[in-house]
Amino acid sequence: MAPESQAREQGEIVFPSGFTWGVATAAHQIEGGNVNNDWWAWEHDPTSGTLEPSGDACDSFHRWREDVQLVADMGLGAYRFSLEWSRIEPAEGEFSTAALEHYRRMCAACHGHGIVPVVTFHHFTTPRWLTDRGGWEAPDAPECFARFVARATAYLGDLIGWACTINEPNVVAVMGYFQGEYPPGVKDDFGRYAAVNEAMLRAHRLAVETLRSGPGDFPVGLTLSMAEITADDGGEALRDAAEEMLENIFLRATGDDDFVGVQCYTRMHFGPDGLAPNDPDVPVTQMGDELWPQAVEHTVRRAAAVSGRPVVVTENGIATADDTERIAFLSDALRSAHRCLAEGIDLRGYFVWSLMDNFEWHLGYGPKFGLVAVAPGTFERRPKPSAHWFGEVARSNRLPAGGAR
Ligand code: BGC
Repeated sequence: MAPESQAREQGEIVFPSGFTWGVATAAHQIEGGNVNNDWWAWEHDPTSGTLEPSGDACDSFHRWREDVQLVADMGLGAYRFSLEWSRIEPAEGEFSTAALEHYRRMCAACHGHGIVPVVTFHHFTTPRWLTDRGGWEAPDAPECFARFVARATAYLGDLIGWACTINEPNVVAVMGYFQGEYPPGVKDDFGRYAAVNEAMLRAHRLAVETLRSGPGDFPVGLTLSMAEITADDGGEALRDAAEEMLENIFLRATGDDDFVGVQCYTRMHFGPDGLAPNDPDVPVTQMGDELWPQAVEHTVRRAAAVSGRPVVVTENGIATADDTERIAFLSDALRSAHRCLAEGIDLRGYFVWSLMDNFEWHLGYGPKFGLVAVAPGTFERRPKPSAHWFGEVARSNRLPAGGAR
């Protein structure tokens, strides 16, 4: 980059008034004791390759008040969390009022602090009663999901701030039926992978209808995992195919949704033989991903162009043990997001993944994505410097000159 534009890039930037600042979590990654879903079974299957079980996680099922308080202390406007379907519907057709009441109290506490509760209805975990009869491959899985959404919305709808139907359906299908690292651990089965993609898209459309016809009046959208997908020499056709299967089919299915959630972490390369190695000159995160904060602008632009919907960055962050690196990453990511705003893209908000260090699925507790550390054993929450830094950015609605560097 030319020195002149670098200087310009590092100036103070101001976000539009009303821009939403938030943090995100997911039930299974923080609640603990979610014994009744497919992930719990998977974590305890010695053949799954999952490094450790979720166990008590951050004990957020009990400590959620502290978590909402952390969000309030940072001065953020929104908290994105998910409902655990297997707690709300522990057996098919049997709904727990106590579990619904739990999430109702969480939503109410958010409102009490002036925080918008952004509720995700499915974040990777599925009740065991459904996976026992095929999970997302069961012919009526989308209807089962819609029935759960209807019951949950009837109970919570008046308090929901925004709704995300399904978190990253594109990851559920690819990791569960292609890579085999998420349940049900199927590898390279293109037919089953494509069928699950379709089932989840049908579930999304049914959920949107259900949410719009229930109590409350809130924006509804889908959240997608997106990457800056690039082509090395000769990799153009595969890059285009990957974009189509991994992202475009979902982006085009957003219909008249109120927003599309972009969740972006890194860049990927495709060569003539498929997925190619990282650029050796780019450092990697604890996930082994390229440290590539500017993926934000690429993915937001693509999401807006292909879907035609307003965009919210519903997850962005870095797995690192070095909090200074986190601040630098977030600072660069926000500059990247701001370039989209400057181009006139309708970008409505930005959520850091994650509020706190948590259970990173098959990788266990190693990767540290949190703005807040959680002490093992005591569950004590300890905000890191990045929590204070991000709170200041959110409260002032601006990123100071020079960012974090
Ligand atoms: C998921 C989160 C996950 C994060 C970091 C997203 O794909 O929604 O559950 O922890 O990425 O890997």
